[in-house]
Amino acid sequence: MDSPLDTVTWPLRTDRLTIRRLAIDDLPAIWAYRRQPAANEWMTREFPTEGAFRAHFEKPQSLATTLVLERDATVIGDLMLKVEDGWAQEEVAVQAVAVHAELGWCLDEAHTGRGYAVEAVTELIRCCFDDLGLRRVSANCFADNTPSWKLMEKVGMRREIHSVRDGLHRTRGWLDGYGYALLADEWRERA
Ligand SMILES: CC(C)(COP(=O)(O)OP(=O)(O)OC[C@H]1O[C@@H](n2cnc3c(N)ncnc32)[C@H](O)[C@@H]1OP(=O)(O)O)[C@@H](O)C(=O)NCCC(=O)NCCS
Repeated sequence: MDSPLDTVTWPLRTDRLTIRRLAIDDLPAIWAYRRQPAANEWMTREFPTEGAFRAHFEKPQSLATTLVLERDATVIGDLMLKVEDGWAQEEVAVQAVAVHAELGWCLDEAHTGRGYAVEAVTELIRCCFDDLGLRRVSANCFADNTPSWKLMEKVGMRREIHSVRDGLHRTRGWLDGYGYALLADEWRERA
């Protein structure tokens, strides 16, 4: 499956981290932390078995949108970079094709609290704007997922949405949600 990510030169590197495309061989290392409650509490989908996890991440759509985060050649987390069309009126929709990315993240709990997520997502945003030429990035989380929205604020994203009890959590019931975004123009002005 062709992916917009095919146009980027991988891996990306930061001071401490390497960011690269997901390979099938990475799945056991990712399953080792994705199966833990800390990783699953806020994620969209909890996989009941390694087989279900593999069936999802082996899909072409997952391979086309998932990145792996390494520290000293150890997988410490994964990122999502999903290029999408922007919303547009029909007559100008062609101008809104593949201009936006939805971002996501999950770190092995053993490697949280050290600034790795900030470091990785800062580079992910640079990649979206500089390498992929996108005009906007966005991400969503439950309002109660404090580490996730703090991460978005630390990397300079703006809270645009506070939705009220619109998202059903598997154990906590209907919860508020936050939507964050950042435009390429804003990011360049700050740089
Ligand atoms: C969301 C998630 C990626 C955030 O990870 P994280 O490690 O807390 O994020 P950061 O990179 O921002 O770490 C920052 C913390 O590291 C600490 N830190 C230590 N060394 C640091 C350094 N060199 N630079 C920056 N921060 C450092 C900071 O004190 C900071 O903590 P604070 O903001 O409470 O003071 C992680 O909690 C996670 O994977 N959660 C489970 C999956 C999930 O919820 N995904 C999102 C679904 S919407």
